[in-house]
Amino acid sequence: MTNYEPRPEHRFSFGLWTVGNVGRDPFGEATRAAVDPWETVRRLGELGVYGVSLHDNDLVPFDCSPEEASRRVSRFRSALEESGVRVTMATTNLFTHPIFKDGAFTSNDSRVRRFAIQKSMRSIDLAAELDAPVYVFWGGREGSEVGAAKPARDALDRYKEAIDFLSDYVLDQGYGMRFAIEPKPNEPRGDIFLATVGHALAFIERLEHPEMVGVNPEVAHETIAGLNFCHAVAQALWAGKLFHIDLNSQRIGRFDQDLRFGQEDLKEAFLLVRLLEESDYQGVRHFDAHALRVENAAGVEDFARGCMRTYLILAEKARSFASDPRAAEALAAAGVPDLGRPTVGAYSAEAARALSEEEFDVDALTARGYANERLDQLVVEHLLGV
Ligand code: GCO
Ligand code: MN
Ligand code: MN
Repeated sequence: MTNYEPRPEHRFSFGLWTVGNVGRDPFGEATRAAVDPWETVRRLGELGVYGVSLHDNDLVPFDCSPEEASRRVSRFRSALEESGVRVTMATTNLFTHPIFKDGAFTSNDSRVRRFAIQKSMRSIDLAAELDAPVYVFWGGREGSEVGAAKPARDALDRYKEAIDFLSDYVLDQGYGMRFAIEPKPNEPRGDIFLATVGHALAFIERLEHPEMVGVNPEVAHETIAGLNFCHAVAQALWAGKLFHIDLNSQRIGRFDQDLRFGQEDLKEAFLLVRLLEESDYQGVRHFDAHALRVENAAGVEDFARGCMRTYLILAEKARSFASDPRAAEALAAAGVPDLGRPTVGAYSAEAARALSEEEFDVDALTARGYANERLDQLVVEHLLGV
């Protein structure tokens, strides 16, 4: 690799709402013109992007007539065919319309909950029509500001009920898609249910079709919670549950920033790309980020190219790190290969007897160093190109 030009085989994807973001924030109006979904697809194709993701209402507005909806969908399909871009993920917008102000699957009004599930069924039908392999659930409004108003165990029962119902709907319709739950700790709600990857993984195990459901971790979301994103992704991989990923960048202690991939956290981004590239993750590298509000349409292209270019550069850095003998030596000095080997193996009476008789040189083991300083400095210098 020399030019870091994104190509479809790199499997990058962007949400319609990401490159289509108009720069509105809670304090100010849009700074960019809206772009039609088919135009976005055309531009993504030109940039070498593999896939596009969408909410139902990114393509079919909430109040759209059925005639207008089918016109929009067919126009979108033509753009997909012409550009070679495919739909890699779809999801339901269960957060913009004020009907969802108290939640969707966990609203305190069962009529709203039923409406949310109906809206999801229709959106899943659209996703199936567009061949989306992954269907995401991000529960932006599933939470509370007033704890007494939203008993969490009841809310989790309702959340599970909705996902179970929709899993059976997908099976009943013969659709092949899988679900991915996207955790987030807060924003827009004060506290959101399924706050972290860990919460989501535990929730999935209690579902009726856990095999159909994985997670869609997002850099910004775990970072908002002050957590280690690589650990979250690693645990999702370890559990066989990394079905999708939302790449962006975020500073701890800030509002939800959705920055260009790698913008604020290059070393973490490197470790993440290395983790993904060295894993068996087959999914898309999906960016859920947007250009800064100060940018115009040209800046949006710079943003999209930048996300992909940084990923490709870091992937190359990961490969060169893996083949650098100094890295291998530093990793060995830190004991990294040892962690990959079993400690005691499976239990047997004999193994237990052998262990109970083993003698340890506690002083020597205490005195050893783990050469983490050297290793981390090597990573830093590798990234700086020294
Ligand atoms: C956010 C979320 C969303 C979801 C999207 C798809 O913080 O707003 O990341 O962008 O990813 O709704 O589920
Ligand atoms: Mn987000
Ligand atoms: Mn996201």
